[in-house]
Amino acid sequence: MWDERAPAHAASPDYAIERFLTDPAFISDVVRFDLPLLGDVAGLDGVHLQCHIGTDTVSLARLGASMTGLDFSGVAVAQARRLAAQARHPVEFVEADVYDAVGALGRERFDFVFTGIGALCWLPKIMPWAQLVADLLRPGGWLFIREGHPMLWALDERQDALALEYPYFEREDPEVFDEGGTYVETDVVFEHTVSHFWNHGLGEIVTALLDAGMGLTTLVEHDSVPWEALPGKMDRTAENEWRLADRPWRVAHSYTLRAVKRA
Ligand SMILES: C[S@@+](CC[C@H](N)C(=O)[O-])C[C@H]1O[C@@H](n2cnc3c(N)ncnc32)[C@H](O)[C@@H]1O
Repeated sequence: MWDERAPAHAASPDYAIERFLTDPAFISDVVRFDLPLLGDVAGLDGVHLQCHIGTDTVSLARLGASMTGLDFSGVAVAQARRLAAQARHPVEFVEADVYDAVGALGRERFDFVFTGIGALCWLPKIMPWAQLVADLLRPGGWLFIREGHPMLWALDERQDALALEYPYFEREDPEVFDEGGTYVETDVVFEHTVSHFWNHGLGEIVTALLDAGMGLTTLVEHDSVPWEALPGKMDRTAENEWRLADRPWRVAHSYTLRAVKRA
């Protein structure tokens, strides 16, 4: 599914590849949104887990970080390498399953792990994910994740009223979707339309990180998300995000979490 989506996403105006090539100072809307909580990454060694086509990875490199990206889609990794070369940023991209990241990249190698925006929902288990994040970090290193809120992901996107439909808590079995579309604007008709989705409650994510030896330093919930998660019910914001048109304060749309590996 991701191999087929990667080229369509690279061609979509929503991923703004052209802007990276024409404007050497351009960074993605996602990373721009993150800046106030991200702080200065210049001179740090960072890894972007589930980096997809590399737009956020290259953005972090443009902020001065020495970046590595990891994704299990070979097509996405090839696209990410092309972007970094064309944008003239020496980013290393590695093709591997995120659960094998420590073997593929090395233990205690990074000052920070960056991930999110449609990453955790494809992973069946949060506990081993939290452990691998901790294992990748040097003591004192930190995780930065901005992600779709598990409360938003529990909502039924097909109904007009807000209604709970999908699990909030992690479950053994995935939710299986068979859908032709994707989360960005594209005319491409996809052949591989089946996806598997797991939610993880906010408490489960925090507990997994604490159990892995990380200390929570930031947890902020936002009333916007970078993609149109509830189609037809959201408006674009000034920051190029999406927010529920009707009383957006009823639901957390996304969250930013930072956690530090204890020394
Ligand atoms: C929604 S996309 C990426 C989101 C990213 N924030 C972005 O917008 O560029 C999800 C990515 O996760 C990757 N992925 C899913 N499961 C994975 C796994 N087990 N290991 C590594 N990558 C995985 C997919 O290949 C895909 O590139």
